[in-house]
Amino acid sequence: MEFFVTSSAPARQRTDCAIVGVYDKGVLSAGAEALDARIGKRIARLVDRGDVRGKLGEVLMLADVEGTPCERVVIVGLGAKSAFKRKQYRKALGAAITVVAKTGARDAVSYLSLESLPDSDAYTMARAAVEVVGGSQYRVPDHKSSRRPRPTLARFGVGIADRGQRGNAERGVEHGRGLVAGMKVMRDLANQPANVCTPTYLAKAAVALGREHRSIRVRVLNEAECKKLRMGSFLSVTAGTLEPARLLVLEYRGGGRGEAPVALIGKGVTFDTGGISLKPPAAMDEMKFDMSGAASVLGTFKTVAELGLDLNLVGVVPACENMPSGRATKPGDVVTSMSGQTIEVLNTDAEGRLILCDAITYARRYKPKALIDIATLTGACVVALGNHFSGLFSNDDELADALEQAGRRADDRAWKMPIGDEYGDQLKSNFADFANVAGREGGAITAACFLGKFTDGLKWAHLDIAGTAYLSGAQKGSTGRPVPLLVDYLLNQ
Ligand code: BES
Ligand code: MN
Ligand code: ZN
Repeated sequence: MEFFVTSSAPARQRTDCAIVGVYDKGVLSAGAEALDARIGKRIARLVDRGDVRGKLGEVLMLADVEGTPCERVVIVGLGAKSAFKRKQYRKALGAAITVVAKTGARDAVSYLSLESLPDSDAYTMARAAVEVVGGSQYRVPDHKSSRRPRPTLARFGVGIADRGQRGNAERGVEHGRGLVAGMKVMRDLANQPANVCTPTYLAKAAVALGREHRSIRVRVLNEAECKKLRMGSFLSVTAGTLEPARLLVLEYRGGGRGEAPVALIGKGVTFDTGGISLKPPAAMDEMKFDMSGAASVLGTFKTVAELGLDLNLVGVVPACENMPSGRATKPGDVVTSMSGQTIEVLNTDAEGRLILCDAITYARRYKPKALIDIATLTGACVVALGNHFSGLFSNDDELADALEQAGRRADDRAWKMPIGDEYGDQLKSNFADFANVAGREGGAITAACFLGKFTDGLKWAHLDIAGTAYLSGAQKGSTGRPVPLLVDYLLNQ
């Protein structure tokens, strides 16, 4: 799909579909006002009649409107003008584009971006528009035996009020486009069933990314190599499966030679049965999404490479399955991590932390200036924050604040959670340096504290995306989060 910025007036631009807005109480948006002057006040009349009420997300489409070269005019409700912020703007545009997508329109132009928002500028609005529209065109890689129609919308324009905004809006479009591409990489991987998306498949996807972008170098380590590195914790998780594990190492070089990289560590459990501590069957299929952290790392690399950001980035992705079998790790087994610290595996379902800790230790060789791990780590985080905020844990307030701000700007929010010895002490073990689980209380926090035992001397943050990486129910599928947060953070480096 193609995106562009246009400064021509709504009634002048030739397009298959012009999108304008109406606030509640019948207040026309700038785009609607300008268009209405050319089309004999049709919109104002619809408002007077009560056909357009301006309720947020309500859509009405007009065809063959005289006085404009636009084939269709889509009027979308914007809600109360005083409450119109980027969130409402995204929602309105999303509703409009859903209607447009059902028509034969090949292109559309949105004039909602002519509004001034208290929390956005031309850059942010253009970027959000591209994210919303580009994201709405996403189709899951389904395995249905009959082909479904492809989306027809091929071009999308973002209207701007004056030419002075063009540079910023174009930068927003460019970044939005890169984000949509990265989110697609993430979503395509996470949506694949676990019998397709194995550790080997993830490794191939990383290698393909490296072929596509010269700026990305990829290495794939096999189990023998991981064993040589003494990754006893990582390997204990893959012990039960026949599917070979992989450690993916990605390097993006866009910055100076000696410049310390940011390291991204992504949990890549391609299916989490719980192992011997087997999960109950309800919704277990969703554990194919347990590699969302890994997918978000690959997606972020995609965006960063597309945009050619001038920074250095390292990605370390431990990828494996967590299965029960005669060779599986058992509750009570003691394993030795790459760091030398020993772990009593009290629950084989707390496997994410076991693979991440060795990946974190591995990443130390890059002397990263910041290390961020991303993982669908705990059900407890979903209990704490639901599906709207990712859990954010860090040993460095500056890094935590930077990520929190990035989440705000990107509309991909994270909420800062506490960590500390009080919680870490819950991991006491009689038989090893510590256990891999504590009690039920504060489960997302004790999981973070486990990882914290491997991050001494590092500026580290942990994103628990168990509640945000994918949707359940009728909308089941990967959300592409937290690629927007991560990319926004990197854009501001
Ligand atoms: N992958 C799960 C966490 C998860 C649960 C993600 C629900 C998404 C939705 C993780 O490996 C896990 O099983 N965690 C356990 C930890 C417990 C055994 C301490 C959990 O959350 O129950
Ligand atoms: Mn688990
Ligand atoms: Zn898991």
